[in-house]
Amino acid sequence: GAPADVDIGKIDNEPGMLIRAEWRGQPIFVFKRSQQQIDELPQLDGRLVDPNSDNADQTPEFAKNPTRSIRPEIGVLVGICTHLGCVPLHRPEVQPQPWDANWQGGFFCPCHSSFYDLAGRVYQGVPAPANLRVPPYRFEGNTSVVIG
Ligand code: FES
Repeated sequence: GAPADVDIGKIDNEPGMLIRAEWRGQPIFVFKRSQQQIDELPQLDGRLVDPNSDNADQTPEFAKNPTRSIRPEIGVLVGICTHLGCVPLHRPEVQPQPWDANWQGGFFCPCHSSFYDLAGRVYQGVPAPANLRVPPYRFEGNTSVVIG
């Protein structure tokens, strides 16, 4: 399939914003993180299944870093839950959950309650077994992300 071109110009100054795109029939999330959200990611490592993205199926080599991305503030993920394939919801704000009063926000799959952080890393103790997948992508100029 053809690469998908995503214009990130309108989210670049808007932490918490997310753009939905499609690539090879799959939903793609392109979203902006604030500096505070970036700084909080490493603090979650102890509660995650695969904090260092060791699973190569989910994380290409270029994204093996704390934000799982090329530019720390721009996240790019395949929006398919690794449990049974539902599309997770983007919930970037901190919101206490019954299962975890310290939920820092991220992605929530409502099908069977799986939680991911804002790097798409899956929490321990949920049905999803693996992190959300990072697709192949690159930046073209300052405002364009090319998926594929
Ligand atoms: Fe997401 Fe089951 S499909 S938790």
